[in-house]
Amino acid sequence: MKTIAIILASGSGERFGLDVPKQFVKIEGKTILEHAIEAFENHKLVDEIILVTNPDYIDLSKEIILKNSYKKITKVLKGGKTRKDSSYNGIMAINEKEAGVLIHDAARPFVDSQIIENCILALDKYKAICTAIESVDTLVEIDENNIVQNIPNRKFYMRAQTPQAFDLKIIKKAHELAQNAKDLTFTDDCGLVNQFALAKIFIVKGNEKNNKITYPIDIEVAGIVRKI
Ligand code: C5P
Repeated sequence: MKTIAIILASGSGERFGLDVPKQFVKIEGKTILEHAIEAFENHKLVDEIILVTNPDYIDLSKEIILKNSYKKITKVLKGGKTRKDSSYNGIMAINEKEAGVLIHDAARPFVDSQIIENCILALDKYKAICTAIESVDTLVEIDENNIVQNIPNRKFYMRAQTPQAFDLKIIKKAHELAQNAKDLTFTDDCGLVNQFALAKIFIVKGNEKNNKITYPIDIEVAGIVRKI
Protein backbone atom coordinates (compact mmCIF):
# COMPACT_ATOMS: atom_id res chain seq x y z
CA MET A 1 0.00 0.00 0.00
CA LYS A 2 1.30 3.46 -0.93
CA THR A 3 2.08 6.13 1.66
CA ILE A 4 1.05 9.56 0.44
CA ALA A 5 1.98 12.77 2.28
CA ILE A 6 -0.24 15.82 1.92
CA ILE A 7 1.57 19.04 2.80
CA LEU A 8 -0.73 21.93 3.69
CA ALA A 9 0.82 25.23 2.70
CA SER A 10 -2.19 27.34 1.83
CA GLY A 11 -2.28 29.55 4.89
CA SER A 12 -2.07 33.30 4.43
CA GLY A 13 0.05 33.72 7.58
CA GLU A 14 -1.99 36.67 8.84
CA ARG A 15 -0.69 36.30 12.39
CA PHE A 16 2.87 36.37 11.08
CA GLY A 17 2.56 39.97 9.92
CA LEU A 18 4.68 39.90 6.72
CA ASP A 19 3.62 40.56 3.09
CA VAL A 20 4.47 37.01 2.14
CA PRO A 21 2.89 33.91 3.76
CA LYS A 22 5.20 32.44 6.42
CA GLN A 23 5.87 29.24 4.44
CA PHE A 24 7.93 31.34 2.00
CA VAL A 25 10.14 32.86 4.70
CA LYS A 26 13.69 31.47 4.76
CA ILE A 27 15.38 29.77 7.69
CA GLU A 28 19.01 28.72 7.23
CA GLY A 29 18.90 29.52 3.50
CA LYS A 30 15.73 27.57 2.66
CA THR A 31 12.07 28.48 2.81
CA ILE A 32 9.95 26.92 5.53
CA LEU A 33 8.11 25.16 2.69
CA GLU A 34 11.32 23.57 1.35
CA HIS A 35 12.28 22.28 4.79
CA ALA A 36 8.84 20.72 5.20
CA ILE A 37 8.81 19.15 1.72
CA GLU A 38 12.33 17.74 2.18
CA ALA A 39 11.39 15.93 5.40
CA PHE A 40 9.02 13.80 3.30
CA GLU A 41 10.96 13.85 0.00
CA ASN A 42 13.98 12.35 1.79
CA HIS A 43 12.01 9.80 3.80
CA LYS A 44 12.35 6.24 2.54
CA LEU A 45 8.81 5.22 3.61
CA VAL A 46 7.03 8.06 1.80
CA ASP A 47 6.08 7.27 -1.83
CA GLU A 48 4.32 10.41 -2.98
CA ILE A 49 3.71 14.02 -1.95
CA ILE A 50 0.70 16.20 -2.71
CA LEU A 51 1.31 19.89 -2.11
CA VAL A 52 -1.67 22.11 -1.31
CA THR A 53 -0.66 25.71 -1.67
CA ASN A 54 -2.04 29.22 -1.50
CA PRO A 55 -3.85 30.01 -4.82
CA ASP A 56 -1.84 33.25 -5.14
CA TYR A 57 1.44 31.39 -4.78
CA ILE A 58 0.99 28.41 -7.12
CA ASP A 59 3.65 29.71 -9.53
CA LEU A 60 6.16 30.39 -6.78
CA SER A 61 5.53 26.93 -5.32
CA LYS A 62 6.08 25.32 -8.74
CA GLU A 63 9.28 27.33 -9.18
CA ILE A 64 10.56 26.06 -5.84
CA ILE A 65 9.75 22.46 -6.82
CA LEU A 66 11.53 22.79 -10.17
CA LYS A 67 14.57 24.45 -8.64
CA ASN A 68 15.02 21.60 -6.19
CA SER A 69 14.08 18.79 -8.62
CA TYR A 70 11.85 17.14 -6.04
CA LYS A 71 10.86 13.70 -7.34
CA LYS A 72 7.93 12.70 -5.16
CA ILE A 73 5.55 15.63 -5.72
CA THR A 74 2.78 14.40 -8.02
CA LYS A 75 0.24 17.20 -7.58
CA VAL A 76 0.27 20.89 -6.71
CA LEU A 77 -3.24 21.95 -5.73
CA LYS A 78 -4.94 25.15 -4.69
CA GLY A 79 -5.94 25.34 -1.05
CA GLY A 80 -9.27 26.49 0.33
CA LYS A 81 -10.53 29.13 2.74
CA THR A 82 -9.78 27.09 5.86
CA ARG A 83 -7.23 24.41 6.72
CA LYS A 84 -10.08 21.89 6.59
CA ASP A 85 -10.91 22.92 2.99
CA SER A 86 -7.24 22.64 1.98
CA SER A 87 -7.00 19.23 3.56
CA TYR A 88 -10.22 18.18 1.76
CA ASN A 89 -8.73 19.24 -1.60
CA GLY A 90 -5.62 17.13 -0.97
CA ILE A 91 -7.51 14.04 0.16
CA MET A 92 -10.04 14.11 -2.66
CA ALA A 93 -7.24 14.34 -5.23
CA ILE A 94 -5.95 10.87 -4.28
CA ASN A 95 -6.92 8.37 -6.98
CA GLU A 96 -5.89 5.21 -5.12
CA LYS A 97 -8.60 3.08 -3.49
CA GLU A 98 -6.33 2.25 -0.59
CA ALA A 99 -3.42 4.21 0.85
CA GLY A 100 -1.84 5.44 4.03
CA VAL A 101 -2.16 9.22 4.20
CA LEU A 102 0.01 11.60 6.20
CA ILE A 103 -1.28 15.15 6.57
CA HIS A 104 1.33 17.71 7.60
CA ASP A 105 1.40 21.47 8.23
CA ALA A 106 4.06 23.15 6.08
CA ALA A 107 4.42 25.50 9.05
CA ARG A 108 6.20 22.67 10.93
CA PRO A 109 9.40 22.60 8.88
CA PHE A 110 11.55 20.60 11.31
CA VAL A 111 9.57 17.42 11.74
CA ASP A 112 12.14 14.65 12.17
CA SER A 113 12.26 11.41 10.24
CA GLN A 114 11.60 9.30 13.35
CA ILE A 115 8.21 10.94 13.91
CA ILE A 116 7.28 10.33 10.27
CA GLU A 117 8.41 6.71 10.54
CA ASN A 118 6.50 6.15 13.80
CA CYS A 119 3.31 7.52 12.22
CA ILE A 120 3.65 5.28 9.17
CA LEU A 121 4.45 2.16 11.22
CA ALA A 122 1.50 2.83 13.55
CA LEU A 123 -0.78 2.64 10.50
CA ASP A 124 -0.23 -1.15 10.53
CA LYS A 125 -2.29 -1.28 13.72
CA TYR A 126 -4.42 1.88 13.84
CA LYS A 127 -6.49 3.77 11.29
CA ALA A 128 -5.84 7.22 12.75
CA ILE A 129 -2.70 8.61 14.37
CA CYS A 130 -2.01 11.96 15.97
CA THR A 131 1.46 13.30 16.72
CA ALA A 132 1.31 15.06 20.08
CA ILE A 133 3.52 16.49 22.78
CA GLU A 134 3.01 16.74 26.52
CA SER A 135 1.72 20.07 27.76
CA VAL A 136 4.23 21.73 30.08
CA ASP A 137 1.67 24.41 30.87
CA THR A 138 -1.52 23.76 32.80
CA LEU A 139 -4.54 24.25 30.56
CA VAL A 140 -7.51 26.27 31.75
CA GLU A 141 -10.95 26.02 30.24
CA ILE A 142 -12.68 29.42 30.06
CA ASP A 143 -16.01 30.88 28.98
CA GLU A 144 -16.60 33.84 26.66
CA ASN A 145 -16.14 36.25 29.59
CA ASN A 146 -12.66 34.93 30.38
CA ILE A 147 -13.88 33.21 33.53
CA VAL A 148 -12.26 29.88 34.31
CA GLN A 149 -14.71 26.99 34.11
CA ASN A 150 -12.39 24.07 34.65
CA ILE A 151 -8.73 23.27 35.31
CA PRO A 152 -8.19 19.72 34.07
CA ASN A 153 -5.42 17.38 35.17
CA ARG A 154 -2.49 18.27 32.88
CA LYS A 155 -1.26 14.71 32.59
CA PHE A 156 -4.30 13.76 30.50
CA TYR A 157 -3.83 16.62 28.02
CA MET A 158 -1.40 16.84 25.12
CA ARG A 159 -0.74 19.41 22.37
CA ALA A 160 -1.51 18.05 18.94
CA GLN A 161 1.05 18.46 16.17
CA THR A 162 1.32 17.01 12.69
CA PRO A 163 1.87 14.74 10.81
CA GLN A 164 -1.41 13.02 11.45
CA ALA A 165 -1.75 9.69 9.67
CA PHE A 166 -4.85 7.91 8.41
CA ASP A 167 -6.18 5.03 6.49
CA LEU A 168 -7.40 6.77 3.30
CA LYS A 169 -10.97 5.43 3.63
CA ILE A 170 -11.35 6.82 7.17
CA ILE A 171 -10.11 10.34 6.44
CA LYS A 172 -12.13 10.51 3.22
CA LYS A 173 -15.26 9.53 5.12
CA ALA A 174 -14.54 12.12 7.85
CA HIS A 175 -14.24 14.91 5.30
CA GLU A 176 -17.33 13.76 3.40
CA LEU A 177 -19.37 13.83 6.62
CA ALA A 178 -17.91 17.24 7.50
CA GLN A 179 -19.21 18.68 4.22
CA ASN A 180 -22.80 18.46 5.52
CA ALA A 181 -22.10 19.34 9.13
CA LYS A 182 -22.54 22.85 10.51
CA ASP A 183 -20.51 24.74 13.12
CA LEU A 184 -17.54 22.41 13.20
CA THR A 185 -14.81 24.00 15.25
CA PHE A 186 -12.02 21.51 14.62
CA THR A 187 -8.62 22.77 13.70
CA ASP A 188 -7.12 19.53 12.44
CA ASP A 189 -7.96 16.24 10.76
CA CYS A 190 -7.92 14.09 13.90
CA GLY A 191 -10.61 16.43 15.22
CA LEU A 192 -12.88 15.39 12.36
CA VAL A 193 -12.21 11.66 12.76
CA ASN A 194 -12.93 12.03 16.47
CA GLN A 195 -16.12 14.04 15.92
CA PHE A 196 -17.64 11.29 13.81
CA ALA A 197 -16.14 8.49 15.97
CA LEU A 198 -14.64 6.81 12.93
CA ALA A 199 -11.54 5.32 14.55
CA LYS A 200 -9.53 5.05 17.73
CA ILE A 201 -6.76 7.66 17.45
CA PHE A 202 -3.30 6.52 18.53
CA ILE A 203 -0.67 8.99 19.79
CA VAL A 204 2.85 9.18 18.39
CA LYS A 205 5.18 11.37 20.48
CA GLY A 206 6.17 14.62 18.84
CA ASN A 207 8.84 17.05 20.02
CA GLU A 208 9.59 20.76 20.43
CA LYS A 209 11.50 20.93 17.13
CA ASN A 210 8.21 20.16 15.45
CA ASN A 211 6.44 23.22 16.87
CA LYS A 212 4.44 25.29 14.42
CA ILE A 213 5.91 28.53 13.13
CA THR A 214 3.18 31.05 13.85
CA TYR A 215 4.90 34.26 14.97
CA PRO A 216 8.27 35.76 13.89
CA ILE A 217 9.78 34.79 17.26
CA ASP A 218 9.10 31.13 16.40
CA ILE A 219 11.71 31.42 13.63
CA GLU A 220 14.36 32.51 16.14
CA VAL A 221 13.34 29.73 18.52
CA ALA A 222 13.33 27.13 15.72
CA GLY A 223 16.90 28.10 14.79
CA ILE A 224 18.06 27.60 18.39
CA VAL A 225 16.12 24.41 19.13
CA ARG A 226 17.37 22.88 15.88
CA LYS A 227 20.98 23.12 17.07
CA ILE A 228 20.33 21.40 20.41
O1 C5P B 1 -3.21 28.69 10.29
P1 C5P B 1 -2.45 27.54 10.86
O2 C5P B 1 -1.09 27.92 11.33
O3 C5P B 1 -3.23 26.71 11.86
O4 C5P B 1 -2.21 26.56 9.64
C1 C5P B 1 -1.68 25.27 9.77
C2 C5P B 1 -1.24 24.79 8.39
O5 C5P B 1 -2.35 24.71 7.52
C3 C5P B 1 -0.21 25.72 7.75
O6 C5P B 1 0.85 24.96 7.20
C4 C5P B 1 -1.01 26.45 6.70
O7 C5P B 1 -0.26 26.81 5.55
C5 C5P B 1 -2.10 25.42 6.33
N1 C5P B 1 -3.35 26.05 5.87
C6 C5P B 1 -3.86 25.69 4.63
N2 C5P B 1 -5.01 26.31 4.17
C7 C5P B 1 -5.65 27.23 4.91
C8 C5P B 1 -5.15 27.59 6.19
C9 C5P B 1 -4.00 26.98 6.65
O8 C5P B 1 -3.26 24.85 3.94
N3 C5P B 1 -6.72 27.82 4.41
